[in-house]
Amino acid sequence: MQKVRKAIFPVAGLGTRFLPATKAIPKEMLPIVDRPLIQYAVDEAREAGIEQMIFVTGRGKGAIEDHFDIAFELEKTMSERGRDLSVLTSTRLAPGNCAYVRQQEPLGLGHAIWCARDIVGDEPFAIFLPDEFMVGAPGCMKQMVDVYDQTGGNIISVLEVPHEQVSSYGVIAPGKRDGRVTEVRGLVEKPKVAEAPSNLIVSGRYILQPDVMRILERQEKGAGGEIQLTDAMAQMIGNMPFNAVTFDGRRYDCGSHLGYVEANVAIALDRPHLGDALAASLRHMLNDR
Ligand code: UTP
Repeated sequence: MQKVRKAIFPVAGLGTRFLPATKAIPKEMLPIVDRPLIQYAVDEAREAGIEQMIFVTGRGKGAIEDHFDIAFELEKTMSERGRDLSVLTSTRLAPGNCAYVRQQEPLGLGHAIWCARDIVGDEPFAIFLPDEFMVGAPGCMKQMVDVYDQTGGNIISVLEVPHEQVSSYGVIAPGKRDGRVTEVRGLVEKPKVAEAPSNLIVSGRYILQPDVMRILERQEKGAGGEIQLTDAMAQMIGNMPFNAVTFDGRRYDCGSHLGYVEANVAIALDRPHLGDALAASLRHMLNDR
Protein backbone atom coordinates (compact mmCIF):
# COMPACT_ATOMS: atom_id res chain seq x y z
CA MET A 1 0.00 0.00 0.00
CA GLN A 2 1.35 3.44 -0.93
CA LYS A 3 2.11 5.80 1.95
CA VAL A 4 0.32 9.19 2.12
CA ARG A 5 3.18 11.62 1.33
CA LYS A 6 1.38 14.61 -0.17
CA ALA A 7 -1.33 16.96 1.03
CA ILE A 8 -3.42 19.53 -0.82
CA PHE A 9 -4.48 22.72 0.95
CA PRO A 10 -7.20 24.42 -1.12
CA VAL A 11 -6.89 28.10 -0.19
CA ALA A 12 -8.31 29.82 -3.26
CA GLY A 13 -11.76 30.60 -1.83
CA LEU A 14 -12.93 34.21 -1.60
CA GLY A 15 -13.59 34.19 2.16
CA THR A 16 -16.60 36.49 1.75
CA ARG A 17 -18.00 35.71 5.21
CA PHE A 18 -14.99 37.41 6.78
CA LEU A 19 -15.05 40.65 4.81
CA PRO A 20 -13.66 43.22 5.27
CA ALA A 21 -10.89 41.33 7.17
CA THR A 22 -10.29 39.19 4.09
CA LYS A 23 -10.31 42.03 1.56
CA ALA A 24 -6.50 42.13 1.47
CA ILE A 25 -5.55 39.15 3.68
CA PRO A 26 -6.31 35.50 2.86
CA LYS A 27 -8.84 33.92 5.23
CA GLU A 28 -6.28 31.20 5.95
CA MET A 29 -3.89 33.83 7.39
CA LEU A 30 -6.34 34.91 10.09
CA PRO A 31 -4.68 34.09 13.43
CA ILE A 32 -5.85 31.80 16.19
CA VAL A 33 -4.12 33.67 19.02
CA ASP A 34 -0.73 34.14 17.30
CA ARG A 35 -0.53 31.51 14.56
CA PRO A 36 -2.38 31.67 11.26
CA LEU A 37 -4.98 29.00 10.56
CA ILE A 38 -2.90 27.59 7.71
CA GLN A 39 0.04 27.01 10.06
CA TYR A 40 -2.03 24.76 12.32
CA ALA A 41 -3.12 22.70 9.29
CA VAL A 42 0.46 22.32 8.02
CA ASP A 43 1.65 21.28 11.49
CA GLU A 44 -1.14 18.69 11.62
CA ALA A 45 0.05 17.34 8.24
CA ARG A 46 3.67 17.13 9.39
CA GLU A 47 2.62 15.24 12.52
CA ALA A 48 0.86 12.71 10.26
CA GLY A 49 4.09 12.09 8.32
CA ILE A 50 3.16 14.11 5.23
CA GLU A 51 6.21 15.40 3.36
CA GLN A 52 4.95 17.62 0.55
CA MET A 53 2.44 20.45 1.03
CA ILE A 54 0.59 21.56 -2.12
CA PHE A 55 -1.27 24.87 -1.86
CA VAL A 56 -4.00 25.69 -4.36
CA THR A 57 -3.97 29.48 -4.25
CA GLY A 58 -5.55 32.35 -6.14
CA ARG A 59 -5.01 36.07 -6.66
CA GLY A 60 -4.28 37.95 -3.43
CA LYS A 61 -3.02 34.85 -1.58
CA GLY A 62 0.70 35.74 -1.76
CA ALA A 63 0.91 36.17 2.03
CA ILE A 64 0.62 32.37 2.37
CA GLU A 65 3.77 31.83 0.26
CA ASP A 66 5.62 34.51 2.25
CA HIS A 67 4.55 32.90 5.51
CA PHE A 68 6.25 29.59 4.70
CA ASP A 69 9.35 31.25 3.20
CA ILE A 70 12.52 32.55 4.87
CA ALA A 71 11.83 36.02 6.36
CA PHE A 72 15.34 37.30 5.74
CA GLU A 73 15.08 40.86 7.16
CA LEU A 74 13.15 39.76 10.25
CA GLU A 75 15.55 36.89 10.96
CA LYS A 76 18.63 39.11 10.49
CA THR A 77 17.28 41.88 12.72
CA MET A 78 16.09 39.51 15.41
CA SER A 79 19.38 37.58 15.45
CA GLU A 80 21.35 40.88 15.75
CA ARG A 81 19.20 41.64 18.79
CA GLY A 82 19.90 38.20 20.25
CA ARG A 83 16.27 37.09 20.01
CA ASP A 84 15.12 33.47 19.68
CA LEU A 85 14.50 32.74 15.99
CA SER A 86 12.69 29.43 16.40
CA VAL A 87 9.29 31.13 16.18
CA LEU A 88 10.23 32.09 12.60
CA THR A 89 12.35 29.15 11.48
CA SER A 90 9.79 26.55 12.59
CA THR A 91 7.32 27.88 10.03
CA ARG A 92 9.60 27.44 7.01
CA LEU A 93 8.82 24.93 4.27
CA ALA A 94 11.89 24.05 2.21
CA PRO A 95 11.75 23.92 -1.60
CA GLY A 96 10.72 20.37 -2.44
CA ASN A 97 8.47 20.23 0.62
CA CYS A 98 6.00 22.73 -0.82
CA ALA A 99 4.42 23.60 -4.15
CA TYR A 100 1.95 26.29 -5.19
CA VAL A 101 -0.57 26.05 -8.00
CA ARG A 102 -3.21 28.59 -8.98
CA GLN A 103 -6.92 28.04 -9.30
CA GLN A 104 -7.69 30.86 -11.71
CA GLU A 105 -11.42 31.03 -10.93
CA PRO A 106 -13.13 29.89 -7.70
CA LEU A 107 -15.20 27.16 -9.39
CA GLY A 108 -15.55 25.08 -6.24
CA LEU A 109 -13.61 22.78 -3.94
CA GLY A 110 -13.63 19.87 -6.41
CA HIS A 111 -12.13 22.09 -9.09
CA ALA A 112 -9.49 23.41 -6.66
CA ILE A 113 -8.36 19.83 -5.90
CA TRP A 114 -8.26 18.97 -9.61
CA CYS A 115 -5.90 21.94 -10.20
CA ALA A 116 -3.22 20.02 -8.22
CA ARG A 117 -3.50 16.79 -10.25
CA ASP A 118 -0.08 16.98 -11.95
CA ILE A 119 1.75 17.62 -8.68
CA VAL A 120 -0.10 14.83 -6.88
CA GLY A 121 0.52 12.30 -9.69
CA ASP A 122 -0.55 8.68 -9.28
CA GLU A 123 -0.53 8.28 -5.50
CA PRO A 124 -2.93 8.69 -2.56
CA PHE A 125 -3.04 12.16 -1.05
CA ALA A 126 -4.53 14.06 1.88
CA ILE A 127 -6.72 17.17 1.74
CA PHE A 128 -6.96 19.78 4.50
CA LEU A 129 -9.58 22.54 4.59
CA PRO A 130 -7.66 24.94 6.84
CA ASP A 131 -10.73 26.79 8.08
CA GLU A 132 -11.95 23.56 9.68
CA PHE A 133 -9.76 23.85 12.75
CA MET A 134 -9.22 20.44 14.39
CA VAL A 135 -7.69 20.18 17.85
CA GLY A 136 -6.71 16.72 19.02
CA ALA A 137 -3.85 14.64 20.38
CA PRO A 138 -2.91 13.03 18.11
CA GLY A 139 -4.20 15.39 15.43
CA CYS A 140 -7.07 14.52 13.12
CA MET A 141 -4.91 13.53 10.12
CA LYS A 142 -2.67 11.30 12.25
CA GLN A 143 -5.80 9.50 13.50
CA MET A 144 -6.89 9.05 9.86
CA VAL A 145 -3.48 7.85 8.61
CA ASP A 146 -3.42 5.24 11.40
CA VAL A 147 -6.72 3.86 10.06
CA TYR A 148 -5.58 4.20 6.43
CA ASP A 149 -2.53 2.03 7.15
CA GLN A 150 -4.98 -0.79 8.04
CA THR A 151 -7.71 -0.27 5.44
CA GLY A 152 -6.26 1.61 2.43
CA GLY A 153 -8.81 3.12 0.04
CA ASN A 154 -10.48 6.43 0.81
CA ILE A 155 -10.87 7.89 4.30
CA ILE A 156 -12.79 10.97 5.43
CA SER A 157 -13.11 12.43 8.89
CA VAL A 158 -16.64 12.85 10.23
CA LEU A 159 -18.33 14.45 13.21
CA GLU A 160 -21.72 13.98 14.80
CA VAL A 161 -23.90 17.11 14.77
CA PRO A 162 -27.50 17.69 15.92
CA HIS A 163 -29.72 16.37 13.13
CA GLU A 164 -31.30 19.77 12.38
CA GLN A 165 -27.87 21.16 11.39
CA VAL A 166 -27.03 18.64 8.65
CA SER A 167 -28.25 20.70 5.70
CA SER A 168 -25.16 22.94 5.83
CA TYR A 169 -22.73 20.04 5.27
CA GLY A 170 -21.77 16.91 3.34
CA VAL A 171 -23.42 13.94 5.08
CA ILE A 172 -22.57 10.20 4.92
CA ALA A 173 -24.90 7.23 4.58
CA PRO A 174 -23.30 4.88 7.12
CA GLY A 175 -22.70 1.14 6.77
CA LYS A 176 -20.91 -1.19 9.23
CA ARG A 177 -19.41 0.49 12.28
CA ASP A 178 -16.29 -0.66 14.16
CA GLY A 179 -15.41 1.74 16.97
CA ARG A 180 -14.48 5.06 15.39
CA VAL A 181 -14.43 3.62 11.84
CA THR A 182 -17.69 3.64 9.85
CA GLU A 183 -18.09 2.27 6.35
CA VAL A 184 -19.29 4.94 3.91
CA ARG A 185 -22.17 3.68 1.72
CA GLY A 186 -23.20 7.04 0.32
CA LEU A 187 -22.45 10.78 0.40
CA VAL A 188 -24.83 13.71 -0.05
CA GLU A 189 -23.91 17.39 -0.17
CA LYS A 190 -26.16 19.73 1.87
CA PRO A 191 -29.25 17.43 2.10
CA LYS A 192 -32.64 18.59 3.39
CA VAL A 193 -32.97 17.65 7.09
CA ALA A 194 -35.77 15.16 6.34
CA GLU A 195 -33.73 13.43 3.62
CA ALA A 196 -30.35 13.27 5.41
CA PRO A 197 -29.10 9.66 5.74
CA SER A 198 -27.35 10.35 9.11
CA ASN A 199 -26.05 13.13 11.33
CA LEU A 200 -22.41 12.30 10.50
CA ILE A 201 -20.97 15.26 8.61
CA VAL A 202 -17.83 15.39 6.48
CA SER A 203 -15.41 17.62 8.32
CA GLY A 204 -12.56 18.99 6.29
CA ARG A 205 -9.97 16.19 6.21
CA TYR A 206 -9.69 13.53 3.52
CA ILE A 207 -7.34 10.81 2.27
CA LEU A 208 -8.22 10.00 -1.32
CA GLN A 209 -6.97 7.74 -4.07
CA PRO A 210 -5.76 9.46 -7.26
CA ASP A 211 -8.77 8.00 -9.17
CA VAL A 212 -10.75 10.99 -7.86
CA MET A 213 -8.76 13.28 -10.19
CA ARG A 214 -10.02 11.39 -13.24
CA ILE A 215 -13.58 11.67 -11.94
CA LEU A 216 -13.18 15.42 -11.29
CA GLU A 217 -11.95 15.85 -14.86
CA ARG A 218 -15.46 14.94 -16.11
CA GLN A 219 -17.42 16.31 -13.16
CA GLU A 220 -20.45 18.53 -13.87
CA LYS A 221 -21.33 21.44 -11.59
CA GLY A 222 -23.37 20.43 -8.50
CA ALA A 223 -24.91 22.27 -5.52
CA GLY A 224 -24.35 26.06 -5.67
CA GLY A 225 -23.16 25.83 -9.31
CA GLU A 226 -19.74 24.63 -8.06
CA ILE A 227 -17.74 21.51 -8.89
CA GLN A 228 -18.25 19.55 -5.68
CA LEU A 229 -15.67 17.20 -4.21
CA THR A 230 -18.42 15.27 -2.43
CA ASP A 231 -20.07 14.34 -5.75
CA ALA A 232 -16.77 13.03 -7.14
CA MET A 233 -16.02 11.05 -3.97
CA ALA A 234 -19.48 9.49 -4.08
CA GLN A 235 -18.58 7.89 -7.42
CA MET A 236 -15.73 5.92 -5.82
CA ILE A 237 -18.02 4.19 -3.29
CA GLY A 238 -18.29 0.48 -4.06
CA ASN A 239 -15.11 0.38 -6.17
CA MET A 240 -12.64 0.44 -3.26
CA PRO A 241 -12.73 0.62 0.56
CA PHE A 242 -14.32 3.88 1.72
CA ASN A 243 -14.37 4.61 5.44
CA ALA A 244 -15.09 7.50 7.78
CA VAL A 245 -13.16 8.11 10.99
CA THR A 246 -15.05 9.87 13.78
CA PHE A 247 -12.52 12.43 14.98
CA ASP A 248 -11.56 12.16 18.64
CA GLY A 249 -11.04 15.85 19.43
CA ARG A 250 -12.57 19.30 19.10
CA ARG A 251 -13.49 20.99 15.85
CA TYR A 252 -14.14 24.70 15.24
CA ASP A 253 -15.67 25.96 12.01
CA CYS A 254 -13.40 28.96 11.49
CA GLY A 255 -15.22 29.84 8.27
CA SER A 256 -17.95 31.24 10.55
CA HIS A 257 -17.67 34.13 13.02
CA LEU A 258 -18.83 32.08 16.01
CA GLY A 259 -16.47 29.16 15.35
CA TYR A 260 -13.54 31.50 14.77
CA VAL A 261 -14.06 33.40 18.03
CA GLU A 262 -14.62 30.13 19.94
CA ALA A 263 -11.36 28.71 18.56
CA ASN A 264 -9.44 31.78 19.71
CA VAL A 265 -10.91 31.56 23.20
CA ALA A 266 -10.33 27.79 23.44
CA ILE A 267 -6.70 27.93 22.31
CA ALA A 268 -5.97 30.94 24.51
CA LEU A 269 -7.46 29.12 27.52
CA ASP A 270 -5.10 26.18 26.77
CA ARG A 271 -1.99 28.42 26.72
CA PRO A 272 0.00 28.25 29.99
CA HIS A 273 0.73 31.99 30.27
CA LEU A 274 -2.61 33.21 28.99
CA GLY A 275 -5.28 30.77 30.15
CA ASP A 276 -5.75 31.84 33.77
CA ALA A 277 -5.79 35.57 33.01
CA LEU A 278 -8.26 35.06 30.16
CA ALA A 279 -10.52 32.85 32.29
CA ALA A 280 -10.66 35.57 34.97
CA SER A 281 -11.36 38.22 32.37
CA LEU A 282 -14.11 36.13 30.75
CA ARG A 283 -15.78 35.59 34.13
CA HIS A 284 -15.90 39.37 34.65
CA MET A 285 -17.27 39.96 31.18
CA LEU A 286 -20.00 37.35 31.65
CA ASN A 287 -20.94 38.71 35.08
CA ASP A 288 -21.29 42.22 33.64
CA ARG A 289 -23.45 41.04 30.76
P1 UTP B 1 -15.65 27.77 1.67
O1 UTP B 1 -16.92 27.12 1.32
O2 UTP B 1 -15.36 28.02 3.11
O3 UTP B 1 -15.55 29.12 0.83
O4 UTP B 1 -14.49 26.88 1.05
P2 UTP B 1 -14.65 30.41 1.01
O5 UTP B 1 -14.65 31.12 -0.29
O6 UTP B 1 -13.30 30.08 1.57
O7 UTP B 1 -15.41 31.29 2.12
P3 UTP B 1 -16.78 32.12 2.08
O8 UTP B 1 -17.89 31.10 2.11
O9 UTP B 1 -16.83 32.99 0.84
O10 UTP B 1 -16.71 32.95 3.32
C1 UTP B 1 -13.94 25.75 1.71
C2 UTP B 1 -12.47 25.62 1.34
O11 UTP B 1 -12.32 25.41 -0.05
C3 UTP B 1 -11.48 26.40 -0.63
C4 UTP B 1 -11.52 27.56 0.35
O12 UTP B 1 -10.32 28.33 0.26
C5 UTP B 1 -11.66 26.86 1.69
O13 UTP B 1 -10.41 26.42 2.20
N1 UTP B 1 -11.99 26.72 -1.97
C6 UTP B 1 -13.33 26.90 -2.16
C7 UTP B 1 -11.12 26.84 -3.03
O14 UTP B 1 -9.88 26.70 -2.87
N2 UTP B 1 -11.63 27.13 -4.27
C8 UTP B 1 -12.95 27.29 -4.48
O15 UTP B 1 -13.36 27.52 -5.64
C9 UTP B 1 -13.84 27.18 -3.40
